[in-house]
Amino acid sequence: MKTLSSLLLLLILISCVFSSTLKLLLVTDAHSDPQYYEGADQDDYCRKGKGKAGKYGSTKKCDIPYLTFHSALKFAGTLDPDVVIYLGDMMPHKIEYTESEFQSWFLNTTQTLKNSFPNVKKIFFTLGNNDFFVHDDAPPVSDMMYINAANFWSPWLSTDSYQRVQNGGFYSELIPGTNVRVVSMNSILWFEENEVINSDDVDPWGQLNWLSETLDKSYANNEKVWFMTHLPIGMKDSSDRYWKKRFQKSFLQLVRKYAYSANGEKMITAMFSGHHHMDQFEMVYDQDVYPHTGDEKPLLVNMVISALESRKSKTNPSLRLAEFETESGMLVSYDQWFMDINQANTDRVMDWNLRYSAGELGVYGLDGLGPDQFNDFVKNLKNSNSLAQKYFQNQSEGLVTDNCDQSCIKQTVCLIEYITKDECQKCLDD
Ligand SMILES: *[C@@H]1O[C@H](CO)[C@@H](O)[C@H](O)[C@H]1NC(C)=O
Ligand SMILES: *[C@@H]1O[C@H](CO)[C@@H](O)[C@H](O)[C@H]1NC(C)=O
Repeated sequence: MKTLSSLLLLLILISCVFSSTLKLLLVTDAHSDPQYYEGADQDDYCRKGKGKAGKYGSTKKCDIPYLTFHSALKFAGTLDPDVVIYLGDMMPHKIEYTESEFQSWFLNTTQTLKNSFPNVKKIFFTLGNNDFFVHDDAPPVSDMMYINAANFWSPWLSTDSYQRVQNGGFYSELIPGTNVRVVSMNSILWFEENEVINSDDVDPWGQLNWLSETLDKSYANNEKVWFMTHLPIGMKDSSDRYWKKRFQKSFLQLVRKYAYSANGEKMITAMFSGHHHMDQFEMVYDQDVYPHTGDEKPLLVNMVISALESRKSKTNPSLRLAEFETESGMLVSYDQWFMDINQANTDRVMDWNLRYSAGELGVYGLDGLGPDQFNDFVKNLKNSNSLAQKYFQNQSEGLVTDNCDQSCIKQTVCLIEYITKDECQKCLDD
């Protein structure tokens, strides 16, 4: 009897070790606007005059009121996450105030986020292009924004990370109690729109060098690595400007070099970005060739998370709750939550609903959330019109209900499969 119960206990312990998971909340692009008011003119950022700005937000060129931001986080708190990742763009699109007002609003929104999750292990941040007072211009030299970001985020930063953020806005930290290192990069330093970085500056703030050293240490310590960036690696459409080519190239080289740990398991197990305001994903393969020969090995899936705001009809306000294994660092499932913005404004109540679940029994029929499964998913997208429609409509969490025609499907798939500009362009033009 005694042996049996010890055996049982052992079994339980073993299964705990192997199936231990944590809940990760992914939120991005809130753009909460302190000047938004209900009934303002929707053609004037919902900040002036008289018009039809809704109580909770608008699908025109407006950001969202603080009320929506605050309530969304309150709802997110009820999902009880263990870890929170915020992928940038706290601040509104239009700036009509001083730099010090800008900074105090940044502090307010950061503090609001903190207050919403008193029990989490850690909150991770990255800076978005709108989080710089001069939008898109992450400076290559010391700046108030870096100093303030370090101060505002300090409850979740080690001394080392604190100094790192002060000097360039990037850092890395382990998720407490796990072997998963979250590498928060300042992708705005590598943005094509950044006008203060000199074109001959080979490595602004030494971020590339730091990244390489960080990955090297992770490899030596047998850690799992997640990347978080505001800007997705690839393109949103053919006209869009993203990472400068040479930085994208160097980053991809590092991803390929450190894809696997010494024991052959995956080392880089996830990546998350915001900025597009849409629910998408991007594939990184072991090589960039157009067209694919079929021999490419999928290495990494970048999950592009849809926005908390509804500007320009990109998406219904949304957020994602994922579950990941602490041992492998792999995501095993996620729930996509959304609020129907038009319904909320009409009913004058905010109602959060489950849009879809991915993972084993989820809507896309994936039997896991690794690169191999997403690679199969891409193939299925090409072959199944109904799956392509689902993916297309879920990009906006149901806000855009148009049909995606053949050329729209083709474009959608090119953007997933080819992240380098030349290859993606060839695919789009073909
Ligand atoms: C942030 O600003 C809002 C709206 O002005 C205010 O209600 C709230 O109390 C502020 N929160 C913090 C943490 O300062
Ligand atoms: C996306 O997810 C929903 C779950 O709400 C799923 O049922 C549906 O097939 C997908 N959306 C659309 C509009 O097809």
